[in-house]
Amino acid sequence: MTDQPLWHGRFEASPADSLLKFTESLSFDKQLWRDDIVGSIAHVRGLAQAEIITLAESEIIILALNTVATEMSSGKFEFVASDEDIHTAIERRVTQIAGDTGAKLHTGRSRNDQVATALRLWCKRELAHVAKLTLDLCDVLSTRAAESGWGADGVYLPGYTHMQRAQPVLLAHHFAAHVWAMMRDVDRLTQTIERLDVSPLGAGALAGSSLPLDADFVARELGFSRRFNNSLDAVSDRDFVAEALFDIALIGVHLSRLGEEWVLWTTQEFGFAILDDAYSTGSSMLPQKKNADIAELARGKSGRLIGNLTGLLATLKAMPLSYNRDLQEDKEPLFDSVNQVSLALQALAGMIATAKINAPAMKDAADSELLGATDLAEWLVARGTPFREAHAHVGALVSKSIRDSVKLSQLVAADKKLGPDAVSLLNPGVGVARRITKGGSGPVPGVAQSAELSAALTVMRTRIAALNNTR
Ligand code: ARG
Repeated sequence: MTDQPLWHGRFEASPADSLLKFTESLSFDKQLWRDDIVGSIAHVRGLAQAEIITLAESEIIILALNTVATEMSSGKFEFVASDEDIHTAIERRVTQIAGDTGAKLHTGRSRNDQVATALRLWCKRELAHVAKLTLDLCDVLSTRAAESGWGADGVYLPGYTHMQRAQPVLLAHHFAAHVWAMMRDVDRLTQTIERLDVSPLGAGALAGSSLPLDADFVARELGFSRRFNNSLDAVSDRDFVAEALFDIALIGVHLSRLGEEWVLWTTQEFGFAILDDAYSTGSSMLPQKKNADIAELARGKSGRLIGNLTGLLATLKAMPLSYNRDLQEDKEPLFDSVNQVSLALQALAGMIATAKINAPAMKDAADSELLGATDLAEWLVARGTPFREAHAHVGALVSKSIRDSVKLSQLVAADKKLGPDAVSLLNPGVGVARRITKGGSGPVPGVAQSAELSAALTVMRTRIAALNNTR
């Protein structure tokens, strides 16, 4: 009967409409169909290998599964009202195609280990794709860094702390700061993938099986690097989904911070960058407006990515072992986060790749004499003044300069401790060149950093390629 759930055996009444509507997951877990079929094929091979079904029977079921795959990919698969999720839909259709032989598909298996298997396969592939997209954005930023120059003639802008101008930094250094953060995201995703690379297939509903199935065999068939150790854990574990959601939420936080910067940079007040028309939006009422909606949504959507993580953690909390239907709530946040972060990464990559940098505006802002105050203090330190004393001395000159509207350089020239020799420290571009320590923002360490950055990006590319999870 196709209008009854697969589990109808012990029920006398048909399921209520409200039950079906409330409990179905087909509307969102459809996208697991490939992974469900791959998992089922491995399971059928496992049944044959354990001689629970014959080789001929396994071939008939696998043929039916492949037919379902063709129907799914061509959009011809016909769902029926009683299909509560993708797993039951596929099994129903296999039984329809392959009759009594098809009805052997679910031997020794439960939807509990089946769904965990499909979801892990999905994550291995899709998280690798998110890692790739993250690295693509890293590439865009590191290209822009190289264009703006790591050397003495590189573009520079004010570096900020507390959103107050602090010291001049190379624009390349600034771009690279985001790349290092996002390479940690890529690293984190690859570690999550390694940790989730465990086959739960063979755990059954919760306790394993009385049939002689070999969980190692199906794990190998599916390309997992190992099998579960504990069947209860195998069906109840969603740590990998929580980890994936955390990794993505943190990418979202990084994109939000990057986005916020571009929102500021493209204001008339900053004027540090101009977006390409293809990557900006207009206003329905104000004809003059050109808005940085991609950057704003990168900022806005991070809230949703964080919400997906906290929502799942709340679902998992206090759930007793092992599988509970609550776990069905893992999928929508996961699919949504993967989808949204992928869109954000691609849009931001396009926006940043095509934007124009206003180097003179950045330079202008960074050439303010006050940004050389630390250099003055360090100049005194190099000549024997204790730093705290030097700090107070320069601080007093800054205060006088602001109070009396006198240029700091004039006060420095007239100062007994500093004098004319120190004035050149306040000249345009001098401050950025003076940041000479390893990992610092000047051109001397910048050249080294640029090589470190390229090397690290290559390592990350190789690691992602080695995951070998084609989409
Ligand atoms: N649709 C369910 C999920 O996504 C599949 C597992 C249901 N298992 C069960 N025993 N009711 O979690």
